Order: sequence, then C-alpha cells, then structure tokens
Amino acid sequence: MSLSVIAVSSEIFPLVKTGGLADVVGALPAALAGEGVSVRTLVPGYPAVIAALERTRKVVPLEGLVGGPARILLARAGDLELAVLDNPALYDRPGGPYADPTGADWPDNPVRFAALAHAAVQLAHGAGDEPPDLFHCHDWQAGLVPALFAFTGVRIPTVMTIHNLAFQGQYPAYLLGELGLPASAFHIGGLEYYGDIGFLKAGLAYADHITTVSPGYALEIMTAGYGMGLDGLLRDRAATVTGILNGIDTKVWDPTSDDHLVAAYSRRHLGKRERNRAELQARFGLEVQSDTPVLGVVSRLTWQKGMDMLAEALPFVLSQGMQLAVLGSGEPALEAAFGHAASLHPGRVGCRLGYDESLAHLIQGGADAILVPSRFEPCGLTQLCALRYGALPLAARVGGLSDTIVDANEMALAAGAGTGILFSPTSRPALEMALLRLAALWRDRDAWRGVQRAAMATEVGWSGPAKRYAGLFHDVLERRSRG
Ligand code: ADP
Ligand code: GLC
Repeated sequence: MSLSVIAVSSEIFPLVKTGGLADVVGALPAALAGEGVSVRTLVPGYPAVIAALERTRKVVPLEGLVGGPARILLARAGDLELAVLDNPALYDRPGGPYADPTGADWPDNPVRFAALAHAAVQLAHGAGDEPPDLFHCHDWQAGLVPALFAFTGVRIPTVMTIHNLAFQGQYPAYLLGELGLPASAFHIGGLEYYGDIGFLKAGLAYADHITTVSPGYALEIMTAGYGMGLDGLLRDRAATVTGILNGIDTKVWDPTSDDHLVAAYSRRHLGKRERNRAELQARFGLEVQSDTPVLGVVSRLTWQKGMDMLAEALPFVLSQGMQLAVLGSGEPALEAAFGHAASLHPGRVGCRLGYDESLAHLIQGGADAILVPSRFEPCGLTQLCALRYGALPLAARVGGLSDTIVDANEMALAAGAGTGILFSPTSRPALEMALLRLAALWRDRDAWRGVQRAAMATEVGWSGPAKRYAGLFHDVLERRSRG
C-alpha cells in the first residue's frame, strides 16, 4: 500500500545544510519512493530555497499565522517535492538557517520555527493539497508539530526523529502566547521543560513514535550520561522509541566513478588509490611519501566531535611520524588550533578551514584513515563514507559509530570482519592507543588490505534504512487505526 508523508525540517540537502540532518532529509524522499512512500518536505523559505524553486504548482496564502502573514508554495526543486513556508520577514535574511553572518543565533528563532509548525497544521487541514497519511518531524525545529496537532485535534499521526539531542530549542515561558501555544499545555507532561518551553521536549511528549538515527544512540539517550535532561521522558516512552541507521547516497559516494578523485578505484584495484593519496598530500602541503599513514578529518570542529582532544593529541601524532589533513569549520579556538599546527608543522599537518564538498571526497579517497573521536554521535555519516572509500575509520565507541564499524581486533581480523578501529572511553590516552593500533595494522600490508576490503563491502546505502522507515510508518498508522 502506498503512503504519503509530509516531512518537516529546517534543512534539506542540497539547498540548505549545516550538518548530516540536511543529508538525511534530502536523501529520504528518493529512498522512500522505492518503498511506495511519497514525501513532500515542508521547509522555511530561506533565500537559497526560494532561488532553487523550479515549478510552483500552487500558492496558498495563510493569514493570521504566527510570525505574520505568509504563503505556502507547493513546488519542486530538482527531484525534491517541497512545501515552502514563504515569509520574507522571518526567513529572507543573510547568514545561516539559525544564525546571522557573525554566528549569533537569530533572536526570533522560536517564532521562526513555531511558524513552521503552524504551517504544518495548515497542511494537515488540507491547505493546497490532500492531507498526507503521516507527518515526519526532524529535530527541535519541527518539535512543535506533534504538540500543535494534539492541541488542535489533528488526527494525522506523527513520527519525531532525533538527529541530535544536544540541540533542544529551549525558550522562555513568556513566549507561549506569541508562539500560539495554549497556557493550559504548560505542564510537565506537555510543553514545559525546566521552567521553559521545550520544542524538542514537546515533540517527544506528543509524537506517536520517536526514532533516532542509530540503535546504539536510541539506548544511550535513555541514560543520564547521554540523555541531556530528556532521558526520563525517553525511558517512559521506551516502547515507542526506535533506532534506524542513516545511509549515504551511494551514487554520490562511489569510488569507482568519483569525479573528485584523480583515480577511480574499487575493492579489487586498491593500488590505484595511491594516486589519490599523493594528490591529497600535495593539496594539503604534506610531504609526498608512502612510509607513514595519512590521517584525515572531515568534520565540524566542535566538542561533540572530540576535536579538542585530537588537537591535544597532535604532539603524539607528530611523534609517531604520521601525517594529518584536516577539513572542517566550527569553534574559533579549534579552527585556530589546527590552523596554527599546520603553520608550525608544514609537511606533517595540513588544514583547510571551511566547507568543501570536493575536498571531502578527495580526503575519503586518499587518506589511509579517517578520525572520528566523537564524545557522542547519534549516527555519523563521515564514517559511512570512509568505509565505502576504504579509508579506515578510527572512531570512538559511541552511538552510531559503534553500530557501523567492526573493530579490527584479533578475532575480527581472523574472521575477516574488522572494518576499522574503535576506542573507548573518549579520552586522549585512549585515542593515542588507538592510533598506535592503527599504525601497527597499517604496517601489516596484507592485514590492512583485508580490513579495507571488508570496510568497502559494508552496506551503507539507503535501501535498508528506507525499508525500516517505511515499515515503521505502516506500523504507526496501523496502531492509530486500532486505537
Ligand atoms: P554532523 O551532522 O553531526 O555534523 P554527520 O557525520 O552526520 O555529522 O554529517 C556531516 C556531513 O557533512 C558528512 O557528510 C561530512 O562529510 C560533511 N562535512 C562536515 N564538514 C565538512 C566540511 N568542512 N566540508 C565538506 N563536508 C563536510
Ligand atoms: C546529527 C548528528 C549526526 C547524524 C546527523 C544525521 O547532525 O550529529 O550523528 O549523522 O544528525 O542524522
């Protein structure tokens, strides 16, 4: 049976992206189409979204919406079916989706994302189109959708997906009226979160089902250590929490046909990979040599990603004669730390600050290993690309990282099952020990090749995850129709 879904998200690749959320929201429609699920995505009308619209099928005026008069544009952008909330006063601004060009959050973010949820209510009432069978809400920016459905009697079921529990959308209670939220719902079972309004909390409280992006993270967030204040609520709802791993686009990430590489290669022809390695070294100003592992990083430079720890481990990396190529952007202190290391140690450490899709491909296709020392990781996409490209992931044993990487310990090596190196706890000494293990494995060329081949054979595409989402959507609908 076919299903129609409206996804609600603040980001969608390729139009607007700050992280993996955009990749996932951008990839799910095509992946779900193969499972008989059609998806239209409700997104804010940021300038980049408006500019990308190709065919606007319908314009639905919305008077009296929170945040001021707006329109919903039902339109296409490339292969994406969109419902765009067009309100220039809220979204037509320079800078990122959440912050001004200096990096400061827009002060009216609660209004901007409450408006998005109110627009979802209009779509649920059939504004412009047949209402869908189900709403799929992503992260705190869509958290008020399930809550508003409950308050306004919308009967369409909701699935709330957590991509990152660290971002919760917590705002002062005096905004209730301005955000169009009923004061009667300001209680511990509803909108209230530590005396404030909690957008994500509301989504978790009212959604029919909750998912997060890996089974491991689904368990972790029910504990105080990873629950970020929401573990109690998540434990209460444990029966309706499911972990579904992310995938990556295996056409975009395909080492056998990747235009960003100087040499395409496959599991069987790994020798050709050397040319990408040499190109990577040249591009990062590293000495072009083949007797030391080249470590790569493609990441937000933040505390979550453990990048402070990696910066502290740099003397160790250098003492072992390894090379490091870093591509990323994020916290100014970490950008400065890696930039500084590159200028102090040219030939050994290279650093590019900023976002660069093409260079990300070259790092994956040329580096020997990709470092992902995250303190927590809901899923992680970088290590999935790394597996597919035979750049062995060296990662913290948390969340989606431990769900997707098989540590190449002795037993796994003997069984041909190892695909990377996992370490715990997430600490500098444990990271350094893992680097030693990596170096030893790298020197054993046959063993290394075996692990590369196993890594590249790992299933990282969207077809498995899409089946799980589609199955879950059907289950949720069935549950609703029964109860
Ligand atoms: P998160 O969403 O927490 O940042 P993910 O691993 O889920 O982490 O997704 C991040 C995505 O963005 C990955 O596909 C990664 O390769 C990519 N990425 C991160 N930083 C950069 C960068 N500086 N240049 C290019 N791609 C990047
Ligand atoms: C978040 C998480 C990351 C995950 C991504 C997509 O940004 O930090 O682990 O892969 O969302 O779900």
